[in-house]
Amino acid sequence: MTMANAFDPSRPAPLGAAEQALIERRARLLGPAYRLFYEEPVHVVRGEGAWLFGPHGERYLDAYNNVPVVGHAHPRVVAALAEQAALLNTHTRYLDEKVLDLAERLLATLPPAIGHAMFTCSGSEANDLALRVAKRATGATGFIVTAHAYHGVTEAVAALSPSLGPAVAPGLHVETVRPPLTADASAGDRFAAEVTAAVERLAERGLEPAALIVDTIFSSDGVIADPPGFLGPAVAAIRRAGGLFIADEVQAGFGRTGSAFWGFQRHGVEPDIVTMGKPMGNGHPVAAMAAKPALLERFGRETRYFNTFGGNTVSSVVARTVLEVIAEEGLAGRAQAVGDALRQAIAGRAAGDARLGAVRGSGLFIGVDVVDGAGAPSALDAARIVNGMRRQGVLISASGPGANVLKIRPPLVFGESEAEIFLNAFDAVLVART
Ligand SMILES: Cc1ncc(COP(=O)(O)O)c(C=O)c1O
Repeated sequence: MTMANAFDPSRPAPLGAAEQALIERRARLLGPAYRLFYEEPVHVVRGEGAWLFGPHGERYLDAYNNVPVVGHAHPRVVAALAEQAALLNTHTRYLDEKVLDLAERLLATLPPAIGHAMFTCSGSEANDLALRVAKRATGATGFIVTAHAYHGVTEAVAALSPSLGPAVAPGLHVETVRPPLTADASAGDRFAAEVTAAVERLAERGLEPAALIVDTIFSSDGVIADPPGFLGPAVAAIRRAGGLFIADEVQAGFGRTGSAFWGFQRHGVEPDIVTMGKPMGNGHPVAAMAAKPALLERFGRETRYFNTFGGNTVSSVVARTVLEVIAEEGLAGRAQAVGDALRQAIAGRAAGDARLGAVRGSGLFIGVDVVDGAGAPSALDAARIVNGMRRQGVLISASGPGANVLKIRPPLVFGESEAEIFLNAFDAVLVART
């Protein structure tokens, strides 16, 4: 399956001998399913704040990675991890405060109705668990996802991830809906009508909906943020049909979209289940599912939950420290301010460049449409910009169904001076491609 911004090993790249050897070694050891980014893959050995460093003194501004949300190798997170690892790391079958301290702090960021948190090691596992809980709570088996959704790697959630391509067939229990591509006042009603039509298609197969699950910034669908609130009518529609609303916050959560800590908050909706991961451990594998307690009653009675590494002592301390740092450094507010300014500056460039279209996003998650002379998606030109930026030492990528949406999503410590470096590189690349 081709992927936006994937390195093509059959095309020669001007790489050093060490990098060529690493590519060969990866193929030999890891097999054919892995993909590298960029025409000239990037070799990194160290990270600090919003910067990544190569083995020969190369320096890259990271405008792509959301996982190191508080910055690569944040000293406080590193120290907390090391201290706890030197003391104790065990699982959730012993009495210990650390996982509870994390749960308390995490639940305090969520609506009061979301009362329980369960810990996993990845966003995929969190979504997988959410599906099991939703099915048991509703007694229904159907799921509704967006047309180019990505929800993870397990068999159950890959079946809910049409962006993986036709080789990963969506299950018969899955229906897709188109997210609203234009940010007008009818976007919410249009999206709700899509959900209602999907419920009807499930009913034609004798199925009822267990849940509508959406990535609340619609990243793999091409970054769809506006108008804020457009999710409201769709959430009402799924509830009318007896289904739950699962907010997949793996991309949008932890302050990414600006002053609202969670993506669903921008839409003024209250999920039944929230899933999260990626930035939660700043690179350490910790993720979670949080839910309304009533939804877990039957699940907890009829089965049990144990995840060997999920909620372990070290992960719990790391995730709690990440939450503390985001709050103490005011990173969500900063994402709003820096993101607004950066988005406006990019929109200014787009206004003067016929091959840049809409600029969308919220906080430090920005998507830019790249189009051809006729206004059609241009994956080719998007790849040119992404690779041009990489040669300028700035890392971004592309996404969306047409692989033509520039994806700009830096660590939240990305500030005004980094935005200026980004824009200088962007200007140079836009000029060079004409
Ligand atoms: C929206 C969304 N949900 C779930 C996942 C899966 O998370 P993980 O890779 O941690 O399993 C991803 C990963 O990219 C994602 O973007």
